[in-house]
Amino acid sequence: MRESIDEVKKLLQNYTAVWGTEIYLENELAPPFPQEQTAPKPKQAIPPRPVPKRRVSTRRIPAQLSPELQSFYLEIKDCAQCSLSETRTNLVFGWGNPNADLMLIGEAPGKDEDEQGIPFVGRAGQLLDKMLLAAGLKREDIYIANMLKCRPPQNRDPLPEEIIKCEPYLHRQLELIKPKVLLALGRVAGQNLLQTQDSLSRLREQTHQYADIPLLVTYHPAALLRNPRWKQSSWQDLKKIKKLLQNV
Ligand code: URA
Repeated sequence: MRESIDEVKKLLQNYTAVWGTEIYLENELAPPFPQEQTAPKPKQAIPPRPVPKRRVSTRRIPAQLSPELQSFYLEIKDCAQCSLSETRTNLVFGWGNPNADLMLIGEAPGKDEDEQGIPFVGRAGQLLDKMLLAAGLKREDIYIANMLKCRPPQNRDPLPEEIIKCEPYLHRQLELIKPKVLLALGRVAGQNLLQTQDSLSRLREQTHQYADIPLLVTYHPAALLRNPRWKQSSWQDLKKIKKLLQNV
């Protein structure tokens, strides 16, 4: 009994740390997560893209990769297809469950991510983890990647030519992971993935398709750090995602 009370306490403490004292949960406390692990998905025969080798990355192979993702990571980790390779420390490949049903797609690595080679590990990433946890999702259950794999200097917006060069990598990750639902984090990711200039509020209104996979768009966690008022809407988006996951 004591243990359950402590567990509930911990959950509530985490919830209030992220969402404040307002409870947005309504009647959806029972999370559909963690997802049941599905058997590894069959590999598709897609010829590897040749990538010129220019510099040696300091990052070790992320431990949680499936063999297919691992060989893809090794293939692209020294990518030099655009000038971001000259300023990056590490290519930030992606992180999480290689059989995830849900894949989150951010814009591009920031300073912390560039240093560690892992997406969303800075302040925004810590908020993201708490938000996911409050929604019954753990980083280990999902997969997180970025539209761009390398950090743009001074965190400037990605350039069209960088997206053109990098997007095939994201597509390959989608082919290997086969997520059922995608969540784009932020306006820049949403607009670029969907090739539109629509505002974030417009993008949040509907379920889109990206590479034939349903995609929702929500706030970037960095925006929530700047504007905590948007947290309530972002909670609504997470609920939509959970519903979508239950229905795919
Ligand atoms: N912002 C992003 O869009 N991606 C990261 O990995 C970190 C911050």
